[in-house]
Amino acid sequence: MRGEPLASAIVAAGTLAIARSPKFHRPRGPACFRSACDGCLARVNGSPNIMTCMTPARGGEVVESQNTLGPRNMDLLRLTDWFFPEGFNHHELFAGVVGVQKVMQIFARRIAGLGKLPNEHKAPRPAKRVEVDVLVVGGGPSGLAIASRLAEAGRDVWIADDGVSFGGSASALPGRTFKAVLSRFEAIRDRVQLHLGSTILGTFGDDLLLVTPQETLVIHARDVILATGAHDGVLAFEGNDLPGVMSARAACVMLRWGAVPGSRVIVVVPEGGGPFGEAYARALEGVDTVDVRVVKGEPTKASGTNRVKSVTLATGATHTGDAVLIDAPRAPSYELGEQLGAKIVHEPHGFVIKAENGRIRDGVWATGEVTNVPLSLAAIEADSDKVFAAMNA
Ligand code: FES
Repeated sequence: MRGEPLASAIVAAGTLAIARSPKFHRPRGPACFRSACDGCLARVNGSPNIMTCMTPARGGEVVESQNTLGPRNMDLLRLTDWFFPEGFNHHELFAGVVGVQKVMQIFARRIAGLGKLPNEHKAPRPAKRVEVDVLVVGGGPSGLAIASRLAEAGRDVWIADDGVSFGGSASALPGRTFKAVLSRFEAIRDRVQLHLGSTILGTFGDDLLLVTPQETLVIHARDVILATGAHDGVLAFEGNDLPGVMSARAACVMLRWGAVPGSRVIVVVPEGGGPFGEAYARALEGVDTVDVRVVKGEPTKASGTNRVKSVTLATGATHTGDAVLIDAPRAPSYELGEQLGAKIVHEPHGFVIKAENGRIRDGVWATGEVTNVPLSLAAIEADSDKVFAAMNA
């Protein structure tokens, strides 16, 4: 479907293991759908290491696997994993062994790295300076909520979001939880400059560097509002990198485009997790081609070879399935706030921006999950009202 993330189209076409790990060549599948893992990297139209989860399908793309030797499904370099089941230190392998060391170096240079250089050299593009009234970083529920209020009040609003479409979690969550936020935004959408597929690379003094698919901009904004949301919770357990193990929110993103990662899906909800897993299960109720089961607890091991086959919980119970969705507590995306001078505190689920009424400093604000606001309509709306009032005080 045009506009859907390429990764979801690839999964819908039957390929889950899109990528390979660089060292042991273990199969990798998309796990996050928010540019936070390496499971969806592929060569697209001659450019290496494209995050296919953040790249909209336009039709006619040439997508190639990379970092493999021989057929993608086999990848002869996977032998590395079997030869060294306990891992190896490539810095020391055969170092000092006369003759062998040189051969190993040549071999290592040939197989190392991720992908090959692009087919075409892209010329550098100069950055342009722009003055902006309000820049909202993040087009998820909190970003849209505050942008709507500001645009309704006559402010000139830009939104920067790295997704292929706006809405973030509001659009990913099955059901109509955030319908009010999305509808209110739709009403003022024409008055807002929405930059999708766009990333704030960093701050330089009071300016921000924004890279969009078309241009590179140094932005000086009268007000910057961080609505960067939260990272999916990632849990450390054996086998969490197998294709088919993914965040529940990532599976919701795919479902929005009609793709499901398996036919027997186990949703694991650890303590404090939610709300994506259960919403996912509800959305697929009655669909007879997909069996979704929700289990509560901490995963300790996922098993499988080329894709996940089962997950074991701390209770000792093992559940079989060809996809495992983890719905762990989310961790605020605080990083840009830290660059902008926000006070950061550590809480059990991650680092959080502390900002009274959303104010980080003059002209810099934060709203939504990045300040530990729960991902619920009432909480997001109330926080947005509070920040809007503080900006106008
Ligand atoms: S980076 Fe694309 S799925 Fe994780």
